[in-house]
Amino acid sequence: MLAVADSGAGLPLVLLHAFPFDRRMWEPQTSVANVRLVRPDLPGFGDTPPVESTVDSMADAVAGTLDELKIDSCVLGGCSMGGYVALAFARRHSHRLIGLILIDTKAEPDDDAGKANRQKMIDATGTLTAAAVIDGMIPKALGDATRSTRPEVVAAVRRLGTAQSAAGIVAAQRMMRDRPDSRPLLGAIRVPTLVIVGEHDAITPPAGARAMAAAIPGATFVELPDAGHLPNLETPAAFNAAVGDWLAREQFHAPAKD
Ligand code: MLT
Repeated sequence: MLAVADSGAGLPLVLLHAFPFDRRMWEPQTSVANVRLVRPDLPGFGDTPPVESTVDSMADAVAGTLDELKIDSCVLGGCSMGGYVALAFARRHSHRLIGLILIDTKAEPDDDAGKANRQKMIDATGTLTAAAVIDGMIPKALGDATRSTRPEVVAAVRRLGTAQSAAGIVAAQRMMRDRPDSRPLLGAIRVPTLVIVGEHDAITPPAGARAMAAAIPGATFVELPDAGHLPNLETPAAFNAAVGDWLAREQFHAPAKD
């Protein structure tokens, strides 16, 4: 079972974190109302030890964690790397999915340049530090407004990134390098889907997120102003409102208590 934070009561909402973070990146979402908020640490992050993984094995580990928590079905959300795993879950465990939230993520696999960048990090095994990885990411991961006016968010992101292990980071790079193309799945998604993206996301920009939403039948698309790649941390009130409004509009029901 994955290490997990499990709080609140109501509709199970499972959120999968981005790279290189852990379940703590969802702290600002604990105020979303009427949900049982389940936040796993994906393999190699937070308190879950690293193992060589694929997006499929990570999706299966999430399903196994739901079994342990006695959750049959859920709304599943994932940010960036977490979104890659959420899409794999939608492919492999669709019967357990009642809604999907894709946050600053994409369905396409890495291109050659992307794979080469990952390879550099993989080849640096032994000398790579989590601090160098997160410091390299922050200028792209956080929007201008966040970097210039929200130092506490920058510090929290740096703290979270620095806390991860080099082994987990390298295993995740391999997993992301080898992930399949999820675009063929998009048209077959049959659950209500919310696609969220930060207006200034430089890693998975709005145009791609908009195209992904257009490929998913009936999906809702929301672009959040003043946010980059991590809108749940950068503009948490707007992010939580977008999620809360969508959950209310879709009228998901919490499972009946025995
Ligand atoms: C993330 O935020 O999870 C990463 O940017 C994803 C990636 O490296 O593709």
